[in-house]
Order: sequence, then C-alpha cells, then structure tokens
Amino acid sequence: MKEIKFYKVAIFINALVPLALVGWDWLHGRLGADPLNFVTRTTGTLTLVFLMLTLAVTPARKITGVQWLIRFRRMLGLYAFFYGFLHFTAYVWFDKFFNLRAAAEDVWRRPFIIVGLTSFFLMVPLAITSTNGMIKRLGGKRWQRLHKLVYLTAIGGVLHFYLLVKSDTRRPVIFGAILAVLLGYRLYVAYSSKLKAKPLSLTQTAPPR
Ligand code: HEM
Repeated sequence: MKEIKFYKVAIFINALVPLALVGWDWLHGRLGADPLNFVTRTTGTLTLVFLMLTLAVTPARKITGVQWLIRFRRMLGLYAFFYGFLHFTAYVWFDKFFNLRAAAEDVWRRPFIIVGLTSFFLMVPLAITSTNGMIKRLGGKRWQRLHKLVYLTAIGGVLHFYLLVKSDTRRPVIFGAILAVLLGYRLYVAYSSKLKAKPLSLTQTAPPR
C-alpha cells in the first residue's frame, strides 16, 4: 500500500527530528550549563517515549481495527533501541570517558544505573532478532516469546527514571501510569479471551453419552 510507505518515511524522518534539534543546539552552544547531562537526559527520555509508542501499537490496532498499524511497530522499537544506544554511549563516553572502572564504581554508588543497564541489555536481543530472516529462523512462537522481554525493558526503564529523580517524581509517575495502561490492556485481553475459551473446553471435555 502506497500510504504505508509514506507513513513509514514520515515516522522515520520525524523520529530523527529531536536528535537533529539537540545536534543543532549543541553546535550553537545552547544546551545549558551542562550539555552532557542534557544529552543524556534527552536521549533517556526519547528511549522511554519510543518504548511507549512501540507498546501502544498493539492496543491501538486492536481497539481501532486498523491492522496495518503493526507495520510501524518494528521501526518504533528500533528507534527505542537507537536512542537507548545513544543514551548508553553518552553515559560511557561523555560521563565516564570510557573509564570502565569509574563506570563500575558508579553502578554501586547509583543503583538506578544498574536498572538502566539491565533494561538496555534486554533490548539488544530484540534489536538483533528484529529482521524478517530472524523471525523465520526463530519461528513465530519463539520470536513472540522472546519479544515479551520488551515489557521488562519498559518496566526497568520507568523504574530507572523513578529511582534517579530526587524529589519531583511527576514525570516517571506519568510514564508509569501510561505503561500500566498499556500492559493492563494486554492482561485484560489475555484474561477475557481465557474466560471466553472456558465454556468451549467444558463442552469439549464432556463425557460421551
Ligand atoms: C531502556 C533503557 C533506559 C531508559 C528507558 C532510560 C531512561 C532514562 C530517563 C527517562 C532519564 C531521565 C531523563 C530526564 O531526567 O529528563 C535517564 C537518565 C539517565 N540515565 Fe537512563 N535509561 C536507560 C538506560 C540507561 C543506561 C544503560 C545508563 C548507563 C549505563 C543510563 C544512565 C543514565 C544517567 C546517568 C542519567 C542521568 C541522570 C542525571 O540526570 O543525573 N540509563 N534515563
């Protein structure tokens, strides 16, 4: 479908806009007193935003019945990984200057780092197996089971955010509420389809007369 191609290009370009804006402001020295912290925080927020958008695709598709929304999910997920990678790189490069010892000490000093690291590393197998070839190789069922890791990534991402803020917890709480709705919807669908399936299995197992 022509429109899908157009939407895909539109999403691809729009998802790069925040990065271009940060780059532009950086070049012009407009990132405030601590540009490195600004870049780390912006890329962290973008990772979480793209994780939420990725998780919103399935509920949106089921509620609206617009099946082709699924065609954007992979790109959104890969953008979450891309911004997660930039966020991670900003930390080890600019914050720690590739000093792994300092990074390891930081992990113990600031536990939110280990939660972030775990969430990021959970995204790696998802990004690697995002191609059509990998889906075929793994088989649909196994691939789907593996990709449930995205729920842990998102929960970890929100927890990481919550743990790092010092007093104003509003933003991580808002992300947490959005995530609760997105995961709650999935639980509701799974539970209600189980309930619907129950009477069927009762009739199926009824003893023959
Ligand atoms: C899925 C993975 C991750 C997500 C979703 C995520 C998300 C976030 C968010 C939303 C923020 C706060 C942004 C703000 O204050 O506006 C943040 C900050 C930060 N994150 Fe992450 N993050 C992830 C992984 C990591 C990793 C792997 C590291 C480092 C190894 C890391 C290190 C940091 C640091 C140092 C900050 C800044 C804290 C400060 O302001 O002092 N994050 N992250």
